Amino acid sequence: QTIFLKDYTPPAYLVDSVHLTFRLSPEHTRVISRIAFRPNPDAQSKDFFLHGENLRLFWAKIDGQEVEPEQSLEGLTCAVPDAPFTWEAEVEISPISNTALEGLYISGGMYCTQCEAEGFRKITYYPDRPDVMATFTVRIESDLPVLLSNGNPVAEGEGFAEWHDPWPKPAYLFALVAGDLINHPDRFTTKSGKEVELNIYVRPGDEDKCAFGMEALKKSMKWDEDVYGREYDLDIFNIVAVDDFNMGAMENKGLNVFNSSCVLASPETSTDANFERIEAIIAHEYFHNWTGNRITCRDWFQLCLKEGLTVYRDSQFTSDMRSAPVKRIEDVIALRGRQFREDNGPLAHPVRPASFVEINNFYTATVYEKGAELIGMLKTLVGDADYAKALDLYFDRHDGDAATIEDWLKVFEDTTGRDLSQFKRWYEQAGTPRLSVSEAYEDGTYTLTFKQDTPPTPGQDQKDPRVIPIAVGLLNPNGDEVVPTTILEMTEAEQSFRFEGLAAKPVPSILRDFSAPVILQREVSDSERAFLLAHDTDPFNKWEAGRALARSGLIAMIRDGAAPDTGYLDALQAVVRDDTLDPAFRALAMGLPSQDDLAQTLVDLGETPDPKAIWQAVEVLKQEMAQHMQDLLPRIYAQYQVDDAYRPDADQSGARALANAALALISRMDGGVQAQAQYDAADNMTQQLAALGCLIAAGKGDAAVQAFYQQWKHDRLVIDKWFSLQIMQADPDRAVDTARALTGHPDFAMKNPNRFRATLGALAGHPAGFHHASGAGYALLTDWLLKLDPVNPQTTARMCSAFETWKRYDRARQAMILAQLDRILAQQGLSRDTTEMVTRIRNA
Ligand code: ARG
Ligand code: ZN
Repeated sequence: QTIFLKDYTPPAYLVDSVHLTFRLSPEHTRVISRIAFRPNPDAQSKDFFLHGENLRLFWAKIDGQEVEPEQSLEGLTCAVPDAPFTWEAEVEISPISNTALEGLYISGGMYCTQCEAEGFRKITYYPDRPDVMATFTVRIESDLPVLLSNGNPVAEGEGFAEWHDPWPKPAYLFALVAGDLINHPDRFTTKSGKEVELNIYVRPGDEDKCAFGMEALKKSMKWDEDVYGREYDLDIFNIVAVDDFNMGAMENKGLNVFNSSCVLASPETSTDANFERIEAIIAHEYFHNWTGNRITCRDWFQLCLKEGLTVYRDSQFTSDMRSAPVKRIEDVIALRGRQFREDNGPLAHPVRPASFVEINNFYTATVYEKGAELIGMLKTLVGDADYAKALDLYFDRHDGDAATIEDWLKVFEDTTGRDLSQFKRWYEQAGTPRLSVSEAYEDGTYTLTFKQDTPPTPGQDQKDPRVIPIAVGLLNPNGDEVVPTTILEMTEAEQSFRFEGLAAKPVPSILRDFSAPVILQREVSDSERAFLLAHDTDPFNKWEAGRALARSGLIAMIRDGAAPDTGYLDALQAVVRDDTLDPAFRALAMGLPSQDDLAQTLVDLGETPDPKAIWQAVEVLKQEMAQHMQDLLPRIYAQYQVDDAYRPDADQSGARALANAALALISRMDGGVQAQAQYDAADNMTQQLAALGCLIAAGKGDAAVQAFYQQWKHDRLVIDKWFSLQIMQADPDRAVDTARALTGHPDFAMKNPNRFRATLGALAGHPAGFHHASGAGYALLTDWLLKLDPVNPQTTARMCSAFETWKRYDRARQAMILAQLDRILAQQGLSRDTTEMVTRIRNA
């Protein structure tokens, strides 16, 4: 039941065209298929196998003759001619009972599909693998007013619509939507003059939340033309918002389907962070049209081929639309928070995994975010010009292909003449390299010596040295930059780099812009960190210096009971008051390392983390920050109030972020007076939610929590925020009870992944609450995972990663977690998804 990359074989039969007819009905949808097959000349086998799960087969024909296929739980086999033939079949499925949200299902009265990775087999019998590509013609029969599928509309009439997609595609890119929907229309003219009709379809009531997404779509289309030379290739591009969705969104050809939380936006209901994320996800799915759809993946092991590249492209887009340094810092915070954590625990896997049981378990931070970092490193190594050439070659050479990582690296090798076999290790070896540094200075020559080492990960004991692009700049002791950013290309396990002609021993700024996804281990004095925080010209490393300073102070508080570090507080104050710096940057500088980050840092120092003690240290430090800056903060708060009409752009969001960071500290001094004033006056969700968070944290939130609910109970996306904020801001001793009470709220809905995540995901994201010494957090999450698993295995399995850090903790907590993991494994009929996740977590 484990599938291995090394076992890949080409499909026995290829498909030229697919015709599908859907007769929609909630319990009895009929799917009639006509598929033109031909033997694959490159295949080793002639066995005919079609995937199919939970399908009721009425009849099947080959070249018009009825046949009796042999059916199993996974699909069917049948004798077929040794020549091209037509397969026809009629099956029945029940969209209304599909709570797994994979295949064809119903959400809020609308039919929709999610086929990636292997959902098409729940719709009809088909070779459901990405290397089988075909053109699709789809007829939908239903009384619903809006009937959509991939490609261009070709016919429409009373109770039906027909669509044709001229671009061959794998089945995972198939989509169908039917419902009583309202569209927000627009248009886009491509650079070669092609007119494209654009639509965002939503349920009635949401039509005023489409404008921002539409602007983001048009910007994305233009950006992909300008930066990658990629033009859109159909007459129409549709986006649909769906409330029940396992992931963020899906790039189905010409018919992107979105989790409504990732597309619907209005100032009153969405935060600045929501707007930024929505813009990025719209871009991401649109960019997949070339990196994913025109060039797809040969098999699911190659998932990072499309995902890593597309995440990289959407981060470039956001950097261009907003602030590049701010985007980089946000990305690195997320990478360390999720991917480093994954890479450091039992779920560690290579960016291109070598095996899996359930592919849905590999839509991970490693495949996506580390996958994107690998693209960034390649670009750093070959330079911008060769990166552009290599991408042109990739699109030229592989358009229409189901490609591999080997194909991807080959275009870079052919463009640059480089040998990328060592670089390929980044795709094959799991784990985050530790990079240690020592320095020497003598007679004007400064030498940096690096050592790289990657700890073992499950199934991979030995690691080979990787190519690491290390961006370095040098500052002289006055704070002036004497060597601007230089890329050192490290290839050995240990390697030295020399800089000549320096008048004094410089201060190094290493791993600028976070040039590689590694953990830099360097003994740096706090005064040197403060120096870099004040003087580094690289915004990322400037922020990083502040973060490191905060971390070392917090660790000293936790380990040794030290008092908060006044050196840090002074350095931070200087940054916060520096009006020449971007307010968004200053807001980021005011952030502290996450409690999860601190727990891992303690583990790396050989200590057992106590989640409650970590939480307390963070509280004490925040209190000290508030006190230390008590004159400055009200000034900052006042100075960065936005008077203009709300815009979700980088400037305004940066100002609000800084003002709200100040408010969070002010609340600790004034007991929430300012926060209550902001709450009462707020006309946008960013201001309202920030104020509500402060009030809850100050213990003054009861009235506002009730008022917020009354104001927003009609809006499910806002109520998701209401669920999660109460848990996130809860005192560690109250977090589990708060979460438990909310699971009993009439608006809690286990079947809606957004609401489930807003509740149980928020608990898992509150380390001191979730890891409460009583074990109540573990038990509550497990209770709900066991309830959700039969309903929605995919979302259940993803949330098991809450337990992935169990080895960090003391024996009592370990024993309690293991008992819960065993309780999960003991459940009768546990899904393959959850079984794989829990087994991997348990056995490492
Ligand atoms: N390809 C989609 C995206 O990255 C993700 C869909 C994954 N869905 C899943 N069920 N595994 O935008
Ligand atoms: Zn994607």
